[in-house]
Amino acid sequence: QSPWYLKRQMLAFMEGRRGAHPEDTFGQQMAAIAKTLPDQAAVDALVAYIDSLSGHTPERTVKGNTKKGEDYYTMVCGSCHGPKAEGNELLDSPALAGVDDWYLVRQFELFRKGIRGADDKYGRQMVMMAPALPTDEDVTNVVSYIQSLAEK
Ligand code: HEC
Repeated sequence: QSPWYLKRQMLAFMEGRRGAHPEDTFGQQMAAIAKTLPDQAAVDALVAYIDSLSGHTPERTVKGNTKKGEDYYTMVCGSCHGPKAEGNELLDSPALAGVDDWYLVRQFELFRKGIRGADDKYGRQMVMMAPALPTDEDVTNVVSYIQSLAEK
């Protein structure tokens, strides 16, 4: 994941813009840990270290209709997240390819239910986008396509 996005998420956890919702149990765990960091310099150091670790393509755990997912992705997601799901910093949109598929599904669900993103100007964009994939099957298909981009 890109350093600019990791940093923004760490600060969001520290400042209560992510992981504050009562139903976001995993986010709360991360917020509690993030709050133990003393300052921004510590966040910068951590993000630099994480960036130095070599990336790997995560294992596929989600199986959907990749072709249907491609159509949806190209129509509704690619304009912000990039044609190869590589992310676009100018549009504040993180890379999706190369992130664990089960995590993408979970985050999408959280945005759809308003559990993630409501307290954050970046997250709110996704809360607004989430109805574009109304069913669990749609989400599975799109995430299946994103995983195929990472495997190329
Ligand atoms: C208007 C631009 C825009 C569009 C269109 C968009 N997104 Fe996003 N997306 C964002 C932004 C901005 C974030 C970062 C939110 C944050 O910082 O919490 C994001 C975050 C995400 C995340 C969380 C990633 C992570 O590592 O936590 C997922 C999953 C996601 N988007 C999936 C999708 C899918 C699937 C689509 C198509 C249905 C889509 N997005 C369409 C702007 C967009």
